[in-house]
Amino acid sequence: PYRPKPIGQAKAMKVNAPQGFAYPDEASPCVAVKMGEPVPGGVGPDRDIVAYSIVCTHQGCPAAYDAKSRCFKCPCHFTIFDAEKEGQMVCGHAPSKLPRIVLDYDARTDTVRAVAVDGLLYGRQANVL
Ligand code: FES
Repeated sequence: PYRPKPIGQAKAMKVNAPQGFAYPDEASPCVAVKMGEPVPGGVGPDRDIVAYSIVCTHQGCPAAYDAKSRCFKCPCHFTIFDAEKEGQMVCGHAPSKLPRIVLDYDARTDTVRAVAVDGLLYGRQANVL
């Protein structure tokens, strides 16, 4: 079972500006991005907020969000993951997409929460330890 974790207020998030957090535990770095237009899996008033584990599914290096291409890029062997298409791999060595952090949105409080992980986090046999 995953524990929901608030990651911020939707209206406070700036478009195309990555916001770091950890989920489902402190050893799992993640990044949320408000894309600025509706995307698959997007939440919030504009259905444009998505989040991913940034641990590359190839060999575990931390991928960084590139605002220009709107992709996550891994510096180790140059795998690229599309932030607008559920973390799908664009090119590179990784065997799978970036794990997507499932979000929900409470319109009453404008709160975005992480509630689950879609995909296995790199180096783990289970996402919740
Ligand atoms: Fe990311 Fe190899 S660890 S491409």
